[in-house]
Amino acid sequence: MALRNIVVEGAPILRKSCRPVDEVNDRIQMILDDMVDTMRDAMGVGLAAPQIGIMRRMFVAEPEPGEVYYFVNPEIISLEGEQESTEGCLSVPGMQGKVMRPEKIVIKGLDREGNEQQYTFEGFHAIVMCHEFDHLEGVLYIDKADEVYRIEE
Ligand code: NI
Repeated sequence: MALRNIVVEGAPILRKSCRPVDEVNDRIQMILDDMVDTMRDAMGVGLAAPQIGIMRRMFVAEPEPGEVYYFVNPEIISLEGEQESTEGCLSVPGMQGKVMRPEKIVIKGLDREGNEQQYTFEGFHAIVMCHEFDHLEGVLYIDKADEVYRIEE
């Protein structure tokens, strides 16, 4: 297990578009595993590579305990409906905000083994995936939020 440092808002690296992963090799798998460890240690439900300073298109998510998803070179291929979510981000500590997100998405990409996968997600799962996907484009939830407020930590 290896924990990586989480980059916080204000760092230019969080505002850049990430490059695709060329190949899911041992190094990429090690980074993905470190991302899961780092996400869990920080009690998050998702973590994108730029949040640990790696400008590649990949993220991990655990919307329910024990239900871990790995997405390498993800693409959201359809969006449907709308829902309001209350979000926080490990890169924006101590804050929350209300954001509109699609109710349902179809997302595809490679998994941890480099195999093609495609999922349809609704509700909270869709929120988490959209939030993490945005990180790969240098977008933070605070850019989309109507209101952002401080919470007790
Ligand atoms: Ni985030």
